[in-house]
Amino acid sequence: MGGKSGEHSVSLRSGRGVYLALDRARYNPIPVIIGEDGLWLLPPADDCPLEPDQSWRRCNLAEGLAFLQAKAGLVFPVMHGANGEDGTMQGMLQLAGLPFVGSDCGASALAMNKPRTKDVYRCAGLATPPGVWFTSADWRCDSFRILQDITALGIPCVVKTCRSGSSVGVSIVREASALLTIIEELLPLSGDLLVEGFVKGREFTCGVIEDPRDGLAPRALPIVEIRPRVSSWFDFKAKYQADGSDELCPAPIPPALAQRFQEAGLAAHKFLGCRGMSRTDIIWNEAEDRVEVIETNTIPGFTEASLLPKAAAAAGLDYAALVNLLVAAALKYGSGSAAEA
Ligand SMILES: Nc1ncnc2c1ncn2[C@@H]1O[C@H](COP(=O)(O)OP(=O)(O)O)[C@@H](O)[C@H]1O
Ligand SMILES: [Mg+2]
Repeated sequence: MGGKSGEHSVSLRSGRGVYLALDRARYNPIPVIIGEDGLWLLPPADDCPLEPDQSWRRCNLAEGLAFLQAKAGLVFPVMHGANGEDGTMQGMLQLAGLPFVGSDCGASALAMNKPRTKDVYRCAGLATPPGVWFTSADWRCDSFRILQDITALGIPCVVKTCRSGSSVGVSIVREASALLTIIEELLPLSGDLLVEGFVKGREFTCGVIEDPRDGLAPRALPIVEIRPRVSSWFDFKAKYQADGSDELCPAPIPPALAQRFQEAGLAAHKFLGCRGMSRTDIIWNEAEDRVEVIETNTIPGFTEASLLPKAAAAAGLDYAALVNLLVAAALKYGSGSAAEA
C-alpha cells in the first residue's frame, strides 16, 4: 500500500481496510508500505499493528522485493495510479514469480492509459466520448491544429492527464478562453493529454469481480449511481470528502438500463484483459439515451466506503468476504499473466 503516486494517501486507506479484513484463519498477512519517495517500509513482525515507527525497516526496491520473495506466497497490491496500478508493480511481481491479486502487467498498463483504453472500447463496440490525444511534442509542433480539433469537440470539454486517477489532473473547461491555460498547466505533468467531449448526464459505475466459486467467470455487480453534492462533477472533493457525494446502490434505474451498464462493464473488463476485479465509469445521457464509457480502474478505491465494496455489499458480499474472495481468486490463477493462467 502507499506508493509513489498522487493517490498515495488514498491507497494507505484502501490498504489498511484490506489488511484488517484478511482472514487470519487462512492467511498470515504482512503489511508493506511504499513511501511517496519510493522507499519501502517493512514491518518488524508479520501481523503487526499498522502504525509504522522506528522498528519498521526502510529499504530500497531490491531489498523490498527480496523480502516479498522470502516471505510472501501472494501479494495484494492495493495501490492506485502510477507505480502501483499501472502495470509496473505487476510486471515486477510476474518476473519474480509471485502470484498477486488483480490484473496482470499488460492489462493494468492498458487500462491506466486513458486514450488507449478508449481505442479498446471502440474495438469492443462500446461508445466513448470523442477525444483528441496529443503529446508535448505534438503541441510544440502544431498547437494551432490541435486547438482546431479540440474546438470541434465543443465547449464544455474535459482535459485529462492520460495516466492518473482520483480526478487528479482532470479539468472541465467551460469557457474556450480557459483552454490554453489548462493545457499548459496539465501538459508538463504527464507529457501527453486527452481532451474529451463533455457528456451531460448521470454518472454510474459498474464493478466486475471474478468469483472462484463460479469458475472465475467475470460477474457484474449491481450498478452504483454517483450524485456529487459538493461539486458539479465527481472531482477529488466529491470523491473523498465526507458526504461529498450520494452513492446509490443499486442505482434507481430500470433493470434493463442497469443491464446495459453491466454489459458495458463486462465488455470493458474482458476486452482490456482485466483479471480479478475492475470498475468501469459510465455516463448516461438520458435525453439521447447514450451510454458513454469513460474509463476502467483495475485497482479501484478499496476502503469500506468505496464504490466497488459498496456494490459487492449490495450483491450480498460484505467487505471482508470480497477481500478474501479476491485472494482466493488470485490463488487459483497462480503466478504469471492472465493468458498463462
Ligand atoms: N467526458 C466527460 N464528460 C463529463 N464528465 C466527465 C468526462 N470525463 C470525466 N468526467 C468527470 O470527471 C471524473 C473523473 O474522470 P475520469 O476519467 O473517471 O478520471 P479518474 O481516473 O481521475 O477517475 C468523472 O468521474 C466524471 O465526473
Ligand atoms: Mg474515474
